Amino acid sequence: MIFESHAHYDDKQFDNDREELLSSMQANGIEYIVNVGSDFAACKRTIELTHKYDFIYGAVGIHPSDIADLNEEVCQWLREAGSLPKVVAIGEIGLDYYWEKDPQVQKKQRDWFLRQMELARELTLPVIIHSRDAAEDTLKLMKEIHAQQIPGVVHCFSYSPELAEEYVKMGYYIGIGGVVTFKNSKKLKETAERIPLNHILLETDCPYLSPEPFRGKRNSSLNLPYVAQEIAALKGISEDEVILATRENALRLFSKVNVNR
Ligand code: NI
Repeated sequence: MIFESHAHYDDKQFDNDREELLSSMQANGIEYIVNVGSDFAACKRTIELTHKYDFIYGAVGIHPSDIADLNEEVCQWLREAGSLPKVVAIGEIGLDYYWEKDPQVQKKQRDWFLRQMELARELTLPVIIHSRDAAEDTLKLMKEIHAQQIPGVVHCFSYSPELAEEYVKMGYYIGIGGVVTFKNSKKLKETAERIPLNHILLETDCPYLSPEPFRGKRNSSLNLPYVAQEIAALKGISEDEVILATRENALRLFSKVNVNR
């Protein structure tokens, strides 16, 4: 059974068939799903999903591209939401300099990233980190605040294998999704090959980033076997081994799932 570590089923792309799709997950080998908040409204919808479905857990946090949503009140809301039994992580949080080029707003992203990392520390929750075109600042900030004391995953990893190894040394997991199946994703294939299996999580980031052969279409957790197959091929092991190990990794990281099941 597969542990899906990063999905956005609150997204409007699922409005027409959400119920039908989610009801089919467990019969199709998807055991657990962590639905991840992005903006404030998505965090609230995530909590609703955790109430509705046994096997769905939640992460609450504000994505760097949505920090306009953040203020002291929302921080307090996140703190309370983080204490709910089925909220298992703070995320997704981080830096995104791909979509944000204004240095002043980038500075604000760093401030809120820090605040949310500290919130995770306070709540003893793991973090789900989003980092795009901000490799240097992400690592620098994480070193400054001793992020090795805060467990987490760097989701949809897009940097070099060397940097992945650096995160693994800090105890972090590397989230790998559909991109690893793309012909042109040389760096990520090398990353998957090089980092130890006990530091890899399977994720979709659905509705985005469908693996081959569905690239460009709406993604769902049902496509995760394609990701597992590719990682297995790169490492020269079986698909079952990948599925089993990544499930154990996710249960180790999102330890509140264990307490609840
Ligand atoms: Ni995401």
